[in-house]
Amino acid sequence: MPYYRRVGDVPAKRHTAYPNPSSPSRLLPEELMGVNGFAEESALLYHLSAPTAIVAAEAVESEPERLHGNSPLLPRHLRLHRLKEGGDPVTGRRLVLANDDVRISYAVATESSPLTRNAAGDELAYVESGSAVLETVFGSIALAEGDYVVIPASTTHRWALPDGAASGAAPVLRLLLAEARGHVTVPARYLSSRGQLKEGAPFSERDVRGPESPLVVDGEEVEVLVRHRTGTTRYVYARHPFDVVGWDGCLYPWALSIHDFEPIVGRVHQPPPVHQTFAGPGFVVCSFVPRPFDFGTNAIPVPYNHSNVDSDEVLFYCAGDFMSRAGSGIEEGSMSLHPSGFIHGPQPGSVERAIGQPGTDELAVMIDTFKPLALGQAALDVEDEAYAWSWARTT
Ligand SMILES: [Fe+2]
Repeated sequence: MPYYRRVGDVPAKRHTAYPNPSSPSRLLPEELMGVNGFAEESALLYHLSAPTAIVAAEAVESEPERLHGNSPLLPRHLRLHRLKEGGDPVTGRRLVLANDDVRISYAVATESSPLTRNAAGDELAYVESGSAVLETVFGSIALAEGDYVVIPASTTHRWALPDGAASGAAPVLRLLLAEARGHVTVPARYLSSRGQLKEGAPFSERDVRGPESPLVVDGEEVEVLVRHRTGTTRYVYARHPFDVVGWDGCLYPWALSIHDFEPIVGRVHQPPPVHQTFAGPGFVVCSFVPRPFDFGTNAIPVPYNHSNVDSDEVLFYCAGDFMSRAGSGIEEGSMSLHPSGFIHGPQPGSVERAIGQPGTDELAVMIDTFKPLALGQAALDVEDEAYAWSWARTT
């Protein structure tokens, strides 16, 4: 997020001595966290203890997750609500689709996660339902239904679920997760040359939420699970990593509610880029939110048949009436994969039914990838195998 933020106490000048307030003879250790070789966004954090002090490390071995190529090339319908609940948002997520750029997972979490960080890239999570507090070295962000949250690479964090999620007294946390091999950003065309979200962008800085106060937790010999480019390692830190008393910069976790995304509509049907919300290396993320339908005379409000020539298109249906998909089996919690090379569009009869309708209450998240996606075991476990033939049915 190219948007300066300052939380807690920081010294007036960068890289100058900053005495520990409770022990003035000692200095607070600095940590400069910077992306792309420190040539772009960074944050400067002030710790109570050395962030480098590990006392143990072990490799975490696990079976490689098998991926299945989309062959024969088919559109897929995955009923993600049929995946079993349980586990936490980090170790309990189920891999649904993946390529070399992005891994798309789904979690139905009932437990808080361990302390963790993903050093291989940013993570983008979408809260389909439930709630959690994302605790990080930068501070906490409360998350609820409809929130996206971007967790920058190498941000130590923990998903804290409400008491009762495991017993059923509180709702489970349903998360759609995209793990990038790089950084998730605001689409460049939404930004001015100096980094402000422009008028006409579908959200503004006022919609962005970040940590508002430091999070300091006391503790010794604390485990942190680190996923990195070559595997997973469990470190034991001498002191709890949540010991930052102040930080500033333009690199931090941030949340944006899909309900704050302002839809762009027109007299005739608008193309998918008007829904774009995030950009990642090799993929984009779009938000389809309740909106008035296209208002021109005889405008057809549902999408035309289309060939996504250079991308695989993934849609996650969160809520509302998916009118254009009536008769296909698509329902809340469905994920569709429409791969490059397959022509897709509305179900038979839905174009005629749509004309004259005033609007849609649909809520959906789309992830378009520029490399083909393979299917994880979770996808095969909940696939609706009749979907590919649904356009050939008559209504
Ligand atoms: Fe499409």
